Amino acid sequence: MPQLTEAAVLDALSYVDDPDLGKDLVTLKMIDRIAIDGNTLRFRLTLTTPACPLKDQIKQACINAIHHFISADISVEIDLDAQVTTRRKDASGILPHVKNIIAVASGKGGVGKSTVAVNLAIGLAQQGSTVGLIDADIYGPSIPVMLNLRRERPSVVDTPDGQKIVPLQQYGVKTLSIGFLSDETQAVVWRGPMASRALQQLITDANWGELDYMIIDLPPGTGDIHLTLVQTVPLTGAIVVTTPQEVAKADVVRAIGMFRLPQIGVPVLGIVENMAYFTPPDLPDRRYYLFGKDGGKDLADTYNVPLLGQIPIVEAIREGGDIGVPAVLDDSPAATAFTELCTVAARYIAIRNAK
Ligand SMILES: Nc1ncnc2c1ncn2[C@@H]1O[C@H](COP(=O)(O)OP(=O)(O)OP(=O)(O)O)[C@@H](O)[C@H]1O
Ligand SMILES: [Mg+2]
Repeated sequence: MPQLTEAAVLDALSYVDDPDLGKDLVTLKMIDRIAIDGNTLRFRLTLTTPACPLKDQIKQACINAIHHFISADISVEIDLDAQVTTRRKDASGILPHVKNIIAVASGKGGVGKSTVAVNLAIGLAQQGSTVGLIDADIYGPSIPVMLNLRRERPSVVDTPDGQKIVPLQQYGVKTLSIGFLSDETQAVVWRGPMASRALQQLITDANWGELDYMIIDLPPGTGDIHLTLVQTVPLTGAIVVTTPQEVAKADVVRAIGMFRLPQIGVPVLGIVENMAYFTPPDLPDRRYYLFGKDGGKDLADTYNVPLLGQIPIVEAIREGGDIGVPAVLDDSPAATAFTELCTVAARYIAIRNAK
């Protein structure tokens, strides 16, 4: 049996793979702060997302490897940590401290983009990540209402790079919307170039600071704002929202096509099927597929992208949006669906970053 030394520990742990990333923990630089005291070993294991669904499995695999390769008598203490990964090496200097920039999109209106964007942002923050949320729907901003920030106005600070807008903070998320800067009727009459410029300002003239995830809630369609966005900001990827209906699917196919155009080249991280089914509160085991079954799943299969989640139609989701207390904040099946969506989305982002 080898001695309990740092080298022996690293050697043993080099036999443990992160199942998602397909490499071993030592190569992935996930192990550090190794401390040995007699027969007690302690080290830090840094995972790629705070809510890593595989954390117990990976932890147990580490303990097994130490016991197998060094000695079964060692008591192993693992400090779990998380460091959200990035693949941005941003030469343009736009949002240099933001690790992952994710657009929530759909070709179609009213399918729940804003609802998904808001609950995703809050859910990721609840899991321990730092998150920003930009409302890119210049013509019909909905974040002010959905986050109960209708009458709030962001302040401005002087920084070494000039004056910057300070994002508002709600439910653990930093956020900006054109709705915070104009009154509710004014934004509607903006012309294309002005709207695009306004969006650019929300992104580049605000002090977002360090963020693990920046979520951008896009307007419906595949127009000017979308082009501005992909030209201004190097997106990590897009999450596409659909309902199971055929008509929604056709628009979503167009949106996927836009992101995949060679001159745009934004990876589609996955599909969220919203309004996937209805469950009556008094019959919690029933599922009624009002808009058809598995439409989002079929799209994901066809376009070879992950299905990130299926969100039920629940009155509480609509209500939460209207009163500014998003569903993910409750303790309900809808909240669980959003929390799972966050876990799965974070996982696929980490997998992409590792590739
Ligand atoms: N899963 C759901 N269950 C119940 N209501 C929902 C659900 N998802 C969204 N809604 C409601 O549907 C309406 C439209 O949702 P939302 O505003 O998120 O869509 P959108 O795609 O952002 O719309 P737009 O294209 O206008 O930006 C809202 O009233 C919202 O509360
Ligand atoms: Mg919207």
